[in-house]
Amino acid sequence: MRMLVLGGTVFLGHAVAAEAVRRGHDVYCAARGSSGALPDGAALIPVDREHGLGALAAERFDGVVDVARNYRWVRDALDALGTTAGHWSFVSTINVYADNETTGQSTDGRLLDPITDSEDVSTPESYGGIKVACEDAVRAALGDRAFVLRPGLISGPNDISDRFGYWPTRISRGGRVLVPDAPDQPTQHTDVRDLAEWIVTAAERGTTGTFDGSGPTTALGPLLEEIAELVAPPGTELVAVAPEALTEAAVQPWSGPKSLPLWLPESHHGLVSHDAAPALDAGLRIRPLAETVSATLATERELGLDRERRAGLNPAEEAELLAALDQRVW
Ligand SMILES: NC(=O)c1ccc[n+]([C@@H]2O[C@H](COP(=O)([O-])OP(=O)(O)OC[C@H]3O[C@@H](n4cnc5c(N)ncnc54)[C@H](OP(=O)(O)O)[C@@H]3O)[C@@H](O)[C@H]2O)c1
Repeated sequence: MRMLVLGGTVFLGHAVAAEAVRRGHDVYCAARGSSGALPDGAALIPVDREHGLGALAAERFDGVVDVARNYRWVRDALDALGTTAGHWSFVSTINVYADNETTGQSTDGRLLDPITDSEDVSTPESYGGIKVACEDAVRAALGDRAFVLRPGLISGPNDISDRFGYWPTRISRGGRVLVPDAPDQPTQHTDVRDLAEWIVTAAERGTTGTFDGSGPTTALGPLLEEIAELVAPPGTELVAVAPEALTEAAVQPWSGPKSLPLWLPESHHGLVSHDAAPALDAGLRIRPLAETVSATLATERELGLDRERRAGLNPAEEAELLAALDQRVW
């Protein structure tokens, strides 16, 4: 197949391009080429989507994959390539849903209002609404050639958000590891390579429709314990701290600086407990956690375990919190 990835220089787009190359497809990535290198075997078509996709006007692809968060860019791509593309995958997000609290939702959940203002850039507040508008545009243009997937947290190597990787990294260093005292909290993640395989398989098989792209729901406590079994040196202790105390100490849930990734308040448990069955039935395969953890840790080690992270607690923050907060050992 002749496949085009709009993106392809980082994380998911890169993994999709790499998987498509591995399967023997002719792979092109349309990007500026400034965020990272393409996988070996993929060809760069230099484009800056701020200035349209003129470079692609005469091209035809059997499969197109778009990861954009910008409504205008998605419309431009559909205008340039939508009529002739054989299959179109659009990577949306689990953040398209209006209700973040109710657990066990599926794709029939109520969506946010679409945001179509082309000047609106993707911010945490506008991200979900923009993706709703992008999805609508893709389905309107491609009809029964559209495959729309809504991933939750993406795990695995080279994650530019630094979230899932915080836990294997931190736990592998041992000692007293601060964890949220929320062992029963639902959680979901999907390895970037599993999503990439699903996207390429969907293009090959002509899979279409709209799917949540999260792996099976598990609980946070057992997930962290399993990671500890895989990577913790002897003597490691998971020290659970009450969510109320974490909030009081300005520790952020989910992501960003001074955060505990994957931890979420009850108001957001719906985000991490979507029904995975339709995606699994439609071809999403979930690898064992051990593979995700070992590949993630390998990249973390390459990047340097001491580097400044985009998400998690740094050692000084963690030590200060452990000294100050009420504790309970799991
Ligand atoms: N990470 C998660 O946990 C998570 C969860 C749910 C959904 N998602 C969704 O998954 C997707 C992730 O995609 P991703 O990992 O490939 O990362 P991304 O950050 O969405 O990728 C951005 C890509 O777009 C390209 N790009 C940026 N500006 C450009 C421009 N002006 N012109 C042309 N290309 C441009 C970049 O290449 P250059 O900079 O080289 O041009 C890069 O390859 C996104 O759609 C995100 O919304 C992610």
